[in-house]
Amino acid sequence: MFGKKKTTVGLDIGSSSIKVVELAHDRSGDRLVNFGVSEPLSEAIVDGEIMDRQLVHEAIANLLESRQIRNRSVVTAVSGRAVIVKKILMDRLSEEDAKEAIQWEAEQHVPYDINDVSLDFQIINPNVDQKKMQVLLVAAKKEMIQNHADIIREAGLTPVIIDVDSFAIQNCVEANYDLRSDEVVALVNIGAEITNVNIVENQVPHFTKDLSVGSNAFVEGIQRRYNVSQPDALDALRGKSSSQSIDVAPIIQAACEDLSVQLDRAIAYLKSSGDAERVDRILLSGGSARVPGLREFLNTRHQVPVDVVNPLQKIAYDEGLFNGESAENLAPSLTVAIGLALR
Ligand SMILES: Nc1ncnc2c1ncn2[C@@H]1O[C@H](COP(=O)(O)OP(=O)(O)OP(=O)(O)O)[C@@H](O)[C@H]1O
Ligand SMILES: [Mg+2]
Repeated sequence: MFGKKKTTVGLDIGSSSIKVVELAHDRSGDRLVNFGVSEPLSEAIVDGEIMDRQLVHEAIANLLESRQIRNRSVVTAVSGRAVIVKKILMDRLSEEDAKEAIQWEAEQHVPYDINDVSLDFQIINPNVDQKKMQVLLVAAKKEMIQNHADIIREAGLTPVIIDVDSFAIQNCVEANYDLRSDEVVALVNIGAEITNVNIVENQVPHFTKDLSVGSNAFVEGIQRRYNVSQPDALDALRGKSSSQSIDVAPIIQAACEDLSVQLDRAIAYLKSSGDAERVDRILLSGGSARVPGLREFLNTRHQVPVDVVNPLQKIAYDEGLFNGESAENLAPSLTVAIGLALR
């Protein structure tokens, strides 16, 4: 009753590593009390889907144990191609009636058997005109969500909320930045396998999609071009001195051109649908946000300011937690986990 502060735990199960964040909340605001990043998980998770269940639940349990995180209730998220987020127009209905109707609406927008997906929705504009309302539809394969929840239970934890990576990122950024209501911001979270893109304006996600771009593709590109081992390619990606003869910029550019083309398409789509005229700013997060040359490439390519997110901008923390490593360097990879713990 005394002294024991209530905490929330965010758990981000990524394909390269598992990230956990524990936040405490009191009158003065949010405080990071603990965090941890697991050892690299090779091949256990592919495109957001967990392949090696035992390896993953053991890694989760070990991570919480080693960080001495006692709170067993965790907020987690899913991502990848099996998760679909779409803004749709449908007939104006009450929330209650929309629950029924969404099933039928979703069939037109989801490329999977509707019986195999879990649906959720939020009415974002109840009266677009006299007949229509705008709804944010979220669909994810049931099997994937079930799998995710099972693995968390196998690790001895309780999944209290299963969110979507892109929304967690948005939540984290909105909590840490005072975005102008007319500002259109592209949130781009670059991981190992997946890049989560979420274009938001005034807290509304206009366009949300996960792309198959990430540091794995950069590493493969470096290996092919320079005929080096994977560890050497990884060193080069992190700007380590032993790899001075490797110029990663052209490889990053080639790999990111794909991402940029998709961003261009998303912006064109937002223009044609009347949702937004432009993107004003790009905010990068994820472990690969700091890959050399990436920020500069996107800045030149899209002609807008590009910054790396500081997910701890408004969250208090003890420098000692980072064990001598720079918080600034590590924090972008905790964006999803922090956004989840802020739920
Ligand atoms: N300082 C750094 N410089 C460059 N790259 C880095 C740095 N730190 C981490 N990375 C890269 O970021 C990747 C991990 O990013 P992140 O933790 O966001 O991925 P993930 O969430 O595990 O994967 P995904 O979401 O794609 O399934 C690593 O594969 C690593 O190559
Ligand atoms: Mg990730």
